[in-house]
Amino acid sequence: MPEQPKPSPAPLHRPQRTVSVTGTGSYTPERVLSNQDLERIVETTDEWILTRTGIRERRIAADNEYTSDMAVHAAEAAMKDAGVTGGDLDLIIVATVSPDMMFPATACFVQNRLGAKRAACFDLSAACSGFLYAMEVGRQFVASGSFETVLVIGADKLSSLVDWTDRNTCVLFGDGAGAAILQARGASHGIMATHLGADGSFESILSMPGGGVRCPITADNAHLRLNTIKMAGKEVFKQAVTAMLGAAQRALKQAGLRIEDISCVIPHQANQRIIDAVADRLHVPMDRVFVNLDRYGNTSAAAVAIALDEAHRSGRIQRGDFVLLVVFGGGLTWASSVIEW
Ligand code: ACO
Repeated sequence: MPEQPKPSPAPLHRPQRTVSVTGTGSYTPERVLSNQDLERIVETTDEWILTRTGIRERRIAADNEYTSDMAVHAAEAAMKDAGVTGGDLDLIIVATVSPDMMFPATACFVQNRLGAKRAACFDLSAACSGFLYAMEVGRQFVASGSFETVLVIGADKLSSLVDWTDRNTCVLFGDGAGAAILQARGASHGIMATHLGADGSFESILSMPGGGVRCPITADNAHLRLNTIKMAGKEVFKQAVTAMLGAAQRALKQAGLRIEDISCVIPHQANQRIIDAVADRLHVPMDRVFVNLDRYGNTSAAAVAIALDEAHRSGRIQRGDFVLLVVFGGGLTWASSVIEW
């Protein structure tokens, strides 16, 4: 008798739901470190920092204020904005390269503080691109119907990872956190398109080589400061412009929009000159580009999340606006997203 074909299971195809950002929040520490303050720490000047980067000051967390503390503050603001409580959260993702500990995940510390007993939790590592990576992961869970309410946080305390004797890097970074609630309600199109990318062949131009299993910190190598950020600034600059431009164009195409349709571009807040170069190549006037790096420096995974929250709260973006977010970071990684607000 001929062998009967095996019955194939019913396709697990569920229609994708539209996912929106229903609330945002952010937090930056109280302590302000100005360029003038830095003049007393390393051989630098306010003029050099301002003209090369656009940064005037940054916020520095207290010694006993950790990534999870900043994440909780940002999360509470986002939850209030969206009208949800800890008990509503199905998933918490914290994008960070400066977790409180190697494990447990910083997301677990956040869950405990928020009383989000039902929420699954994990951290995501994509450096400065982390928030948009996390937003896309969260979006997928809500779009598929697996989860109703996802909390996405970008939080970093880079002041703990910076070599405060290296003027090439220590002037660039600051601490902070930003958060968003994702749900299948709100705007008619919500998160319309996302592009994620990476190129691991550039791992050496921006990294923290020590502290992992490849190069543990020992008494013998502690003087090399391998558990601090190492960066080839000029090379990162070049790659950042190319990656952000490409990512922005990919998300626009996927969304079926032109740059003229975008009310507000929110780029990664690393360097004003990188933002200018990307805006110039995208042919977008600077009055449609949101910038706050003068006040916070580069807060890594938090940067675009803080900017999104400030753009929302200040009325810079309004319901129905099309917003383009575009980021890059260590990895190298990059990401972009088009959202109908
Ligand atoms: N103060 C004074 N002089 C300085 C400082 C400083 N803080 N830092 C560097 N210099 C000096 C250099 O030593 C160099 O001196 P030299 O010519 O005598 O050797 C000179 O200034 C010029 O340095 P360059 O590196 O040529 O300066 P550049 O114009 O490239 O600007 C910068 C440097 C700001 C770092 C730029 O390259 C940059 O922004 N790159 C991108 C960095 C970035 O965005 N990193 C974050 C990535 S996101 C993430 O994932 C964490």
